[in-house]
Amino acid sequence: MKKLKVGMIGGGGSGNFFGNVHRRAISFDATREVVAGALRSQPEAALAAAEEWGVRGYPDYQAMIEACQRGDLELDYITIVTPNHQHFEPAMACLKAGIPVLCEKPMTMTVAESEQLVDLCERQKTPFILAHTYTGHPMAMYARELIAAGEIGEIRKIESWYTQGWLADKLEDSGLQQADWRTDPKRAGISNCGGDIGTHAFVAATWVTGLEVARLSARLNTFVQGRLLDDDFNVIAEMNNGATAMIWATQIAIGYKNDNGFRVFGTKGSLEWRQERAEKLLLRQGNHDQTYWLGANFDFWPETVASYLRVPAGHHEDFFEALANLHCSLERRIRGNRGESVPPPFAHPDARTGLAGMKFVGAAVESSRRQGAWTEM
Ligand SMILES: NC(=O)c1ccc[n+]([C@@H]2O[C@H](COP(=O)([O-])OP(=O)(O)OC[C@H]3O[C@@H](n4cnc5c(N)ncnc54)[C@H](O)[C@@H]3O)[C@@H](O)[C@H]2O)c1
Repeated sequence: MKKLKVGMIGGGGSGNFFGNVHRRAISFDATREVVAGALRSQPEAALAAAEEWGVRGYPDYQAMIEACQRGDLELDYITIVTPNHQHFEPAMACLKAGIPVLCEKPMTMTVAESEQLVDLCERQKTPFILAHTYTGHPMAMYARELIAAGEIGEIRKIESWYTQGWLADKLEDSGLQQADWRTDPKRAGISNCGGDIGTHAFVAATWVTGLEVARLSARLNTFVQGRLLDDDFNVIAEMNNGATAMIWATQIAIGYKNDNGFRVFGTKGSLEWRQERAEKLLLRQGNHDQTYWLGANFDFWPETVASYLRVPAGHHEDFFEALANLHCSLERRIRGNRGESVPPPFAHPDARTGLAGMKFVGAAVESSRRQGAWTEM
C-alpha cells in the first residue's frame, strides 16, 4: 500500500507542542508520512524547521498549496497545527484546492467562519476531520457505540469535564508560547479555557452520547489577575432530549494535568471514562458493574472499533494512538473515496462538530456576560 503523503501547517520549531504529537501520530501506522511543511509563521524559521525534520519546506502555507496546484508537490492531505487564529484561512485554502484536511480545534475564531467551512466541506465532499484527540481513544469510541446500541437506555444526565492546573498562575508572563497565545484574545478567540479544553468536554457530552445541546447557562471566571480571557468555564446545559449536562473545564485546579472524562447516566445504566486511565471503561448496570479493558485480543469489540486496535492488552500507547486513530479515519475516507479496500472509517468529529463547538463557546460567553441567562445554541 502506497503511503499517504501529508503536509503540515504549523507545528515546527523546538518550542512547539502539538506538532510533534501529530508528526508521531501520522507515522504511527507506517501508512502515512509527513513529506512537506510550512511549519512556522516566519518564512526563514519555517524553512529551517522543515530542514530539521527532513521534509520539503515552504515559507508559508500559500506557497505549499500553490506547489500542489502547479503539480510540483503531491499531498494526500494537510494537517493544521497552528494557534487558533491561524486555522480558518489555511483550512479554506486547502479545501478550495480540493485537499482533505485534519484541523486542530477549536475549528475557527467565529461561528460565521465555521459556517463557511462546513458549507465548503459539504458542497465539495472533501474529507475533513477535527482533531478532538480524545475521541480517538478506543474506549471513548466504544462508549459511543454502547450508548447508540441502547446499553444504558435513555440518557438522563451527563457530566463531562477537563481539569488542568497549568494556568493557575500568570504563566503567560514567563513567555511560554503555549500560555502566551492561549490567553491572548487576538490569537485564541473569545474564550481561553472554553475554547481550548471546554470544547473537548463539549465533544465528550455530545459526540459520545449522540445528543445536542439545546440551550445553556454559563459562568466563566478569570481567577488570575490581569488575564484577559477566562481560565475557568462552567456550563449547565439542557440537551435536545431533555437531559441535563454539566460541562465544565478549568485551568486553575492546582496539581491537575489532563483530567478529561465523562459520566453518562441513563435509565438502564451508567458509563464512566477518564482519559488519564484511558484503557478502562466502566459500565454500571445496577447489580453488577462491568469493566472493559483495552486490548486487541479481547472479543467484545464491535467491528467498528476493532479495526482501530493494534496490540494485545497491557501495551497501551494512549495519547499518540488516539490521535493516530483520527489520522487513520481520515486516511480511510481518502482511500475509500479512491476505491481502495479499507475498513469503514469511524464517525470522528468533522466540520459540523467544529461548528457546534463554536456555537457552544459563543453561547457560553454570551450567557456568562448576562449573569448566566439561559441562552439558545
Ligand atoms: N487536539 C488536542 O488534543 C490538542 C492538544 C494541544 C493543542 N491543540 C491545538 O493545536 C494548536 C497548536 O497548539 P500548540 O499547543 O501546539 O501551540 P504551539 O504554540 O506549541 O505551536 C504552534 C505552532 O504553529 C506555528 N505557527 C504559528 N502561526 C503559523 C502560521 N501562520 N503558519 C505556519 N505555522 C505557524 C508556530 O511556529 C508553532 O510551531 C492549537 O489550535 C491548539 O488548540 C490541540
